[in-house]
Amino acid sequence: MKLNGKTAIVTGASAGLGEEISRQLVKAGATVYGLARREDKLDDVRHELGTACVPVSGDVRKESDIRHLVERILAETHRIDVLVNNAGFGIFKPLTRVSAREWSTLHDTNLKGVFLCSKAVIPVMQQQNEKSGFGGHIVNIASIAGLVGNPEIGVYNASKFGVRGLSESMMKEVRGDGIKVTCVFPGSIDTDFSATAGSGRSRKGMDAKDVAGSVLHVLRGPDSYLVSELTMRPLRVQ
Ligand SMILES: NC(=O)c1ccc[n+]([C@@H]2O[C@H](COP(=O)([O-])OP(=O)(O)OC[C@H]3O[C@@H](n4cnc5c(N)ncnc54)[C@H](OP(=O)(O)O)[C@@H]3O)[C@@H](O)[C@H]2O)c1
Repeated sequence: MKLNGKTAIVTGASAGLGEEISRQLVKAGATVYGLARREDKLDDVRHELGTACVPVSGDVRKESDIRHLVERILAETHRIDVLVNNAGFGIFKPLTRVSAREWSTLHDTNLKGVFLCSKAVIPVMQQQNEKSGFGGHIVNIASIAGLVGNPEIGVYNASKFGVRGLSESMMKEVRGDGIKVTCVFPGSIDTDFSATAGSGRSRKGMDAKDVAGSVLHVLRGPDSYLVSELTMRPLRVQ
């Protein structure tokens, strides 16, 4: 897809990978509606990127926030070409120390958020496909933790395995409507993620710029085929 002039939603645009994907989409000429909860962080991103970056205060766990976002975009730009389901976080500790509330918060964000945003955007993309022959592109940011289970990250593993299953099902359900679905499985990225998750990891991860660059590469791919999965891992891990 040529990204110039297109409209994108990026969830979790206030920091880390989502911020970097938003930056690269704006540089490519797209208008980005960046959703996150921290308004001050979104305002900083908007200040740097200019009016092509539209900060939207909201929570991916709330269906009403997603509905308002989609209604606003349709009123303002009349189309949604790209959805990047990026918002997410980890909880890294032994399973017996994870509370039921922590389980729910994490799964509502990492997995239900992907469901809610995709459910709101797919009908818009289906209509676009009927008019122009191409619907749009949904990118779901999973993790290597969506492919491989490991100790003390089980709750996060379960959410990202869920994202993988949801992505594969969605891809098969909507590709006939001209909608691409790509699931991305990155290894460690240098963002605030590890500190939030409580992993204490000090090993060097990938640069969010490089990971975002690969996401943009997939978004720019030809309309004739889709890349359904993309895995990336840090090099020279000791
Ligand atoms: N960093 C890694 O090592 C790594 C590796 C593989 C996959 N990933 C995945 O990559 C994605 C981005 O993570 P990151 O590394 O960029 O982490 P990050 O720097 O901590 O950023 C997380 C983003 O998600 C947003 N977010 C969290 N909960 C939200 C909610 N309920 N509603 C809306 N936005 C919410 C945060 O914004 P607010 O707090 O302002 O809402 C923030 O913008 C996540 O899905 C993560 O699982 C990360």
